[in-house]
Amino acid sequence: MMRERREERARYAAPAAAPRVFDCLSHAARIRVILRSQTRIGTKDARAGSFSAFESRSGGHVFQDPLWYKDAVFYELHVKAFCDSSGDGMGDFRGLTSKLDYLVELGIDCLWLLPMYPSPMRDDGYDISDYCAIHPNYGSFDDFRSFLAAAHERGLRVITELVLNHTSDQHPWFLESRSSRDNAKRDWYVWSDTDDRYAGVRRIFVDTELSNWAWDPVSKAYYWHRFFSQQPDLNFDHPEVREAIWKVMKFWLEVGVDGFRVDAVPYLIEREGTSCENLPETHDVLRELRRRVDEEFPGRVLLAEANMPPDEVRPYFGNDDEFHMSFHFPVMPRLFMALRLEDRKPLVEIIERTPPIPDGCQWGLFLRNHDELTLEMVSDSERAYMYDSYAVDPNERINLGIRRRLAPLLEGDLRRVQLLNGILMSLPGSPFLYYGDEIGMGDNVYLGDRNGVRTPMQWDGGWNAGFSSADPERLCQPLISNPIYGYQAVNVDAQERNSHSLLNWTRRLIQLRRSTKVFGRGTVQFLAPANHRVLAYVRKLGEEQILIVNNLSSAAQAVELDLSSVAGAIPVEMFGGSLFPRIGEQPYVLTLSPHTFYWFRLRWF
Ligand code: BGC
Repeated sequence: MMRERREERARYAAPAAAPRVFDCLSHAARIRVILRSQTRIGTKDARAGSFSAFESRSGGHVFQDPLWYKDAVFYELHVKAFCDSSGDGMGDFRGLTSKLDYLVELGIDCLWLLPMYPSPMRDDGYDISDYCAIHPNYGSFDDFRSFLAAAHERGLRVITELVLNHTSDQHPWFLESRSSRDNAKRDWYVWSDTDDRYAGVRRIFVDTELSNWAWDPVSKAYYWHRFFSQQPDLNFDHPEVREAIWKVMKFWLEVGVDGFRVDAVPYLIEREGTSCENLPETHDVLRELRRRVDEEFPGRVLLAEANMPPDEVRPYFGNDDEFHMSFHFPVMPRLFMALRLEDRKPLVEIIERTPPIPDGCQWGLFLRNHDELTLEMVSDSERAYMYDSYAVDPNERINLGIRRRLAPLLEGDLRRVQLLNGILMSLPGSPFLYYGDEIGMGDNVYLGDRNGVRTPMQWDGGWNAGFSSADPERLCQPLISNPIYGYQAVNVDAQERNSHSLLNWTRRLIQLRRSTKVFGRGTVQFLAPANHRVLAYVRKLGEEQILIVNNLSSAAQAVELDLSSVAGAIPVEMFGGSLFPRIGEQPYVLTLSPHTFYWFRLRWF
C-alpha cells in the first residue's frame, strides 16, 4: 500500500518535457531519474545564495495544484524529540529521515518542523541566534538537505518556522544593537529610556514576565519583548529589518522548503495608545513579504500563527494577498468545552461567527500542539470552566492555558480521542496532528515550561523507546514511563501490530479524509436537531455531500435530523461501507452509542 501511495504521490513529479529515453522507463524508474537529477543540481551550498535545490519544483513541475494546502494533512514535530540517529540523546535530521516512511504511511502530506536553528534554547529554539543554519545538535546542513530531498521524494512537503517578531538576545544583530547607542543596528530593536511606553499592552508569558520591557545593562536602556526577556522584539518599522527577514525567507525557499509557519505575527509593530497587536502597519509588512514570495516562489505557503478571535484573524488573509493559511485558535478550546458540556453550542457558535475567507485561503485546525492549550481567547468564566474540567492540578496549568497532551486531557478514553479527531478531520480547514498524538502519548507536567508535551517519540517498548541508543540520563527530555502512557505501553511498534490500535484507526481516518476534496474545500451547513448533544453538519462540494453526525455525550443518544433537502439520498457509512435507509421527507432518526460518530457519503442510486 505504501509503495502505491508513494508512486501516486510522486506521479505529479513528472517533468513537463521528458527526453525520449525517459519515456521508455517504468513510472518508478522515471521518478528515480528525476530525483537523482534534482539531487545533483542541488549540491551547492545555498548559503552562497546561488541556487535552488528544487528549482524544477518551484518551476511548477511538482506542485501542479497551487492550492495543495487546502487538502493537506499536516504533522507537527520537533526534530529534537523525534528520532536520534547518532546516539547523543538528541533527535536529528538523519533520525527523522529514517522515519519518513512511517509518516507517509500515516497519510501525512506536509511536515511542520519546530525551530531547528542555532539557539541558546531559552524558548526551545524560538529564540534564534542564527537564522540561516541548522542547530549542530540536529546534524549538518547537508543532513537537512538530504532530509528535505528524501521527504520530497516521498511526496511529503515541509514547512519550517519563521520566527520574525523577535530574535535571541544572543543573535549578532542584538549583540550589535545593544553594544552602543550609536551602533548602526541600534534601531533594529525597540529601545526606550523608560519602561512606561506602550502602557497597557498585555503580557503573554504571564507566569514568567512582569513587564514587556527589560533592562539592558550594556547600553543602559530598556528593550521591548512580547515573550521571554531573552527574546527582544525586532523593529519592523526599520526597512533594513524587513529586508533582512526577507533574505532569511529567500534563503530557505531557495533551499527548497515549501513554506513557513510564521510565528507570532500580530505583534510586529508597536504604536503608542494601541494594544500593539494586529496594527495596519503589521499587515503592510506581511503583505509585502507575501508579494515577494508570490513573485519569486509561487506555490509556497505562508501559515499565520495569530492567536486571536476569528474576526481579528480574517485580515491576515487579506484579499488573498497576505497569508494562505491561518490557525483557527478558538475552535480548539471550544471543542474541548463542547465535549465536556455535552453540548454542540460552543463549537457551532464559533464557526458560525467565523467570517468567510478568500477562495485561495484555508484555516488550520488542531487539537493540540507544542504549546499550552491556550485559553487566552476565551472569557474568564469559560477559562475557569476549562481549568475545572481539564486541569484541576495547578501543575497542569501554565500562563493562560493547560500544558497537557490530547490523550491525558481526555483521560485516556479512546472513544473521546477518536471523536475529537473525527471532528478535527471533518470541519472546514486543514488538520494539524501533533507528533505522538496518533498513538495517544502522555505528558509530564513536572518538566517545566511546556516541555512536558515535548518528550521523545515512543517508537517501541525497548531501550529508550527506540528513540535513542544513549544512556537514558542523556536524553533531551526524560521519556514518559508511567504505567498508563509509558513507552512500554504506548508505542508505534505495539500499535502497528494491533489492527484495532489508535494508530491504525488514525491511518484509516486520514485515508478517508484524503478520499475526497469535500473536507478541505467544501461548504459546511450545521443541522439544528432538538438533541443538542448531537453535532451534525453537511459538507458539500459540487455534487458531493457528506453528512457528519457526532455524539458529544457519554450516554447513547437518539437524534432526529431534518434532511428533507437531500430526500432520496442513501447514506453510505464511510468507514464500513454499509448502506443506511434512504432519506425521506420525514425526520431521519439515528441512534449513536456514547462518543461515537458517523461519516456518511450521500448517494443517489
Ligand atoms: C510559539 C511558542 C513560542 C512563542 C515565542 C509562539 O507562538 O508557538 O512556542 O514560545 O511563539 O516565539
